[in-house]
Amino acid sequence: MDYTIKTKIAGVNVEDLVTKFGSPLFVYSEATLRKQFRSFKNAFTTRYPKVTFGWSYKTNYLKAICAIFHQEGAIAELVSKMEYEKAKNLGIPGEDIILNGPHKPYDTLLEAIKDEGTVNIDHFEEIQDLEKIASILDKTLTVGIRINLDTGIEPCWSRFGFNLESGEAMEAVQHIAKSNRLRLNGLHSHIGTFITNKEAYDQQVEKMVKFGYEIEDHFGWQMEYIDIGGGFASNNKIKEIYHVSKGAIHSNEGRVPSIDDYAETICNALLKSLRPNHRPKLIIESGRLLVDEAGTLITTVCGTKRLPDGNPGYVIDAGINLLFLGLWFDFNIALAQAIPGQCENSQLYGPLCTNIDVIAEAISLPPLSRGDRLVISNIGAYNNSFWFQFIEYRPNIVLITERGDVELIRAAEDLSDIERREYLPSRLELIQPIKPVH
Ligand SMILES: Cc1ncc(COP(=O)(O)O)c(C=O)c1O
Repeated sequence: MDYTIKTKIAGVNVEDLVTKFGSPLFVYSEATLRKQFRSFKNAFTTRYPKVTFGWSYKTNYLKAICAIFHQEGAIAELVSKMEYEKAKNLGIPGEDIILNGPHKPYDTLLEAIKDEGTVNIDHFEEIQDLEKIASILDKTLTVGIRINLDTGIEPCWSRFGFNLESGEAMEAVQHIAKSNRLRLNGLHSHIGTFITNKEAYDQQVEKMVKFGYEIEDHFGWQMEYIDIGGGFASNNKIKEIYHVSKGAIHSNEGRVPSIDDYAETICNALLKSLRPNHRPKLIIESGRLLVDEAGTLITTVCGTKRLPDGNPGYVIDAGINLLFLGLWFDFNIALAQAIPGQCENSQLYGPLCTNIDVIAEAISLPPLSRGDRLVISNIGAYNNSFWFQFIEYRPNIVLITERGDVELIRAAEDLSDIERREYLPSRLELIQPIKPVH
């Protein structure tokens, strides 16, 4: 038998979950979310004295998930107006918000400034916006900037913030220095996602600190925080076609570093680069690593086929509409029950009626029948924020509490959700049934 069987998720029977909440079904484990956050927090706070954790909302902005991380002590790392409104709605005070991202609408920027949150500037026009806000409010604003830099990661995320190596970052600092209304107090960068090469963080921290001191020495600026973004890899497998030979990101070669490996590298790099007695706040904006393992999707076989190459193909009720990251990752796929019969190289594809809707190109499975359940993990990161509504309704999402209770945290959609924003001009209303044209 070369497939795995998973009859339970966080102690609750898969079949019971489906009986009550239907299929497909997203299932989150509160115990795993809390455990992961605590390990992460512990790894950093035992190695460096001042650490702040910013939960990266875009990774998964379900209210219940965000609330759990906030209860554990994370502040909110946000990159859009929608995320800003979500965090405020949850009751997060402005000073516990970091506003990042390449598109900060003026009104959101203004709100963040009034709320006294942390704002990391992405481009020159934002500097102008902030100067305008400073003059309207008639005060000096304290701001951070995002920089991008070469850490050996390919591709380099050079579209966000100001580039260090080209001198653009220093140019931005000079702009800010010229303004008598803005005061720089922090540096931010985020070098990519699913970074399996921990040495990239060593380079990132060293270069950021060096740049910070350059600015301090030239402009009398105080480096109060260093925000290193996120990017830590979770326990998942990138599809082979996305492996990059230069090694850093997108490689499954070698193991994914542990939380302690990452923390050790980052904190050591900081302690070795910082001047004696200078301990700026370290901000970390992890997303994927904190939530991926806590999420599972249950899906059901709807139809069975023999494809032209002779291999079995199975239509399942969840496709890339629910597992958008399935385009990049080979998730772990287990069966919810043992099934007799010889395993064959099988294909699993979703309900979207389009050829790219494939969840597994080739997976060894016994002969499946309609109604058989599959359990897909680790899918907690990005799928519930990247998911899209195409021809299907989005299903229920439940949370399994630490006591083993099951709570609904997002209800399945129905037609009213899809049509809520639509208007049918009265002249188009179909009063009479349509007569077929012959
Ligand atoms: C600015 C910023 N911070 C943090 C994150 C979280 O990254 P990850 O989920 O890889 O930890 C992202 C993701 O793209 C980001 O853009």
